[in-house]
Amino acid sequence: MLSKKEKSAVWIQRNIDVFSCPHCQSDMTLKENKTLVCHNNHSFDLAKQGYMNMLTHQVNSMYDQSLFEARKKVIDAMLYEQMYEEILRHLPTEKASINVLDTGCGEGTHLQKLKDFYTGEMAAAGIDIAKEGILAAAKNYSEIMWIVGDLAKSPFASNSFDVILNILSPANYDEFKRLLKPNGKVIKIVPQSGYLKELREQFYAQSEKEAYSNDKTVARFKESFPHVDTLRVTATKKISTELVPLLAHMTPMGWHQEQKMDDVKLTEITIDVEILIGTL
Ligand SMILES: C[S@@+](CC[C@H](N)C(=O)[O-])C[C@H]1O[C@@H](n2cnc3c(N)ncnc32)[C@H](O)[C@@H]1O
Ligand SMILES: [Zn+2]
Repeated sequence: MLSKKEKSAVWIQRNIDVFSCPHCQSDMTLKENKTLVCHNNHSFDLAKQGYMNMLTHQVNSMYDQSLFEARKKVIDAMLYEQMYEEILRHLPTEKASINVLDTGCGEGTHLQKLKDFYTGEMAAAGIDIAKEGILAAAKNYSEIMWIVGDLAKSPFASNSFDVILNILSPANYDEFKRLLKPNGKVIKIVPQSGYLKELREQFYAQSEKEAYSNDKTVARFKESFPHVDTLRVTATKKISTELVPLLAHMTPMGWHQEQKMDDVKLTEITIDVEILIGTL
């Protein structure tokens, strides 16, 4: 059986063309099955957990290990099932294999589920600036290449991906356009007014914080891509009581610190998102 590091080395060898040095943008090669090196000798080592840290600068993330653990449990409860169905309907099916990059992938469960449900072959990579997220992803899922990196200085070559996913995360549209193959698509998920509304109602009863709008995000997406399809997914699911503190802990807003979680009574939760599909 291959170790996680060996599995990642195989992934990199098969997909070496998608890498480009985040310092100098030159091509890269894999040395000794563990180190990506560019023509100018910038190098990055595979960690023993199988991920690769390709950050070029120090960053502080608002997202810590416990937040990513909470996100994993919430996402594993399949609250986002309808969202996956819609995303899957928009993934290409005519190719023998597709290259997919999840940008701001966090702890990786969305990408793993999409890969599991996709009926074709998928070479999948996830990038996130938060090392804690990538560490969790690498620990749980070994078929995907996990990279610590910044979208503003990404370690990927132009024209590399059929699909770029951007789920509830910050985007970099110029970079997405550079990374897309000619017929590729960006699939961005933006929360809408009903997203986790039962939880927000508990914390911000009647206050103006309670509702929020993402009109500007949607408008910017439409300015960036000449062809855009949008669709909305709204679903309310029954939840178990154990999920309540995890839901409050899955964003960096610190809701869990504001109120005793025992006082929060929820039996269901709404997922309300817009799916934006952009092509060039
Ligand atoms: C709300 S979380 C969503 C994570 C995951 N997509 C999910 O739905 O569970 C936003 C993520 O974007 C990541 N992020 C923020 N800025 C980034 C950047 N410049 N490059 C890469 N990832 C970034 C954060 O570290 C965080 O994991
Ligand atoms: Zn370099």
